[in-house]
Amino acid sequence: MALADFNPLDPETLECPYPFYEALHAEAPVHMVPQLGMAVVSTYDLIREVVHDPATYSSAMPTGPVDLPGMETGPEDAELAELRAQTARSSAPTLLAADPPWHARYRSLVNKALSARRVAGMEGYVREIVTELIDGFIDDGKADFTSQFADELPMAVIADQIGVPRSDLRDFKKRADLAIGGIERTIPPEEEREVLRAGLEMQEYFLMRAEERRRDPKDDILTTLATAELETDEGRRPLNDAEILSILQQLQVAGKETTAHIIGSAMLLFIENPEQLAKVRANPELIGNMTEEALRMESPVRALFRTTTRETTLGGVTLPAKTTLMLIYHAANRDEREFAEAARFDVERENARNQLAFSAGPHYCIGAALARLEIRVAFEEVLRRMTNFRLDPDHPAPRHEPSYILRGLEELRILFDKAPAPVPA
Ligand code: HEM
Repeated sequence: MALADFNPLDPETLECPYPFYEALHAEAPVHMVPQLGMAVVSTYDLIREVVHDPATYSSAMPTGPVDLPGMETGPEDAELAELRAQTARSSAPTLLAADPPWHARYRSLVNKALSARRVAGMEGYVREIVTELIDGFIDDGKADFTSQFADELPMAVIADQIGVPRSDLRDFKKRADLAIGGIERTIPPEEEREVLRAGLEMQEYFLMRAEERRRDPKDDILTTLATAELETDEGRRPLNDAEILSILQQLQVAGKETTAHIIGSAMLLFIENPEQLAKVRANPELIGNMTEEALRMESPVRALFRTTTRETTLGGVTLPAKTTLMLIYHAANRDEREFAEAARFDVERENARNQLAFSAGPHYCIGAALARLEIRVAFEEVLRRMTNFRLDPDHPAPRHEPSYILRGLEELRILFDKAPAPVPA
């Protein structure tokens, strides 16, 4: 199939994007898609070039335009218009959506809480959560590995880190999922109203909790944000409500969905590649490299966006100012010029750590150390206590969520055996 025949947003292209990526790499690493009014960037080197140059490539619209063809939100009535306006008023461009110099100012507030050093001290605590979750289904011999395990771990961790009860975040989870879906799917007005109302309710809840922290500080991110002093050109000032909400929402979405997705995807990679699983079982030290390789193969942040601030040239293509670029990290991680036999899952791949699943440059994932810890501990325990993984034949073959931003399985129904005598941790 020629490149022009692919629609990057088509559900079947999203499910199995590899022929599309191959065509991009071969024909046009910077590919203008006229019907979407944007350029798709797909190679390892060019994506690195873009993310290291925030002055030319702005992050102001990181999840892309909301009005992509076929993605428009439903017709607007007065109530919907008001809900949309309220939602827009309460969001500020922080972290992911910030450019220099503001970006570094916001980032410095959250950096400490997620630093490699602090995260290293969390291993025992993460292992406790993992153990409890596995205890919950190990006697059943089957599980939906995504909803019973992969989704629950990062949700518990991020709830604790932000500083809200896990049960509250779980209550909001369903609604947050809906809100994420709402970013990029056409949803009927009734449903959109419900999503927006739920989002506003969640915001009120977070602001109430932030107010509590100002009166009664604790050792959590909510307290940091509620009491932070932001550097500005006019001196220091507290974060406003929209900034606090924007940062919390990003931590929640970026911290939960992504990590959950890769844990599910890595399990499927193991089921499909039993010889690779055998290598990891024989040498559990490989779990770290396996994590990098799984992130390369099944990058949970499939793509994000940048916008040119001026006319520029990328890969020999002239891009006018204000061009939207879709950076397909997943495609960069399948670039044969960087990763030989890129379609092969190889837990011993020497340069697996060069993967771009966490991006690079100033927006490099702030939660990478935490994500790596969660994935490693999850698989250390899963492989120690469970064996003989296979797909549950009573359920349809696993499919990915039809998202052009995130990549992850909708569900993963597996059968397994209990390991006969798990080696002590
Ligand atoms: C496997 C799991 C994860 C993946 C694949 C992932 C991926 C990414 C990527 C690709 C970016 C760069 C966005 C860009 O291009 O602008 C990013 C940024 C970010 N990530 Fe992650 N992430 C993961 C886990 C986490 C976790 C656990 C947290 C929080 C606890 C987190 C919080 C963030 C935040 C706040 C940003 C914005 C940073 C900035 O713009 O400076 N992520 N992540």
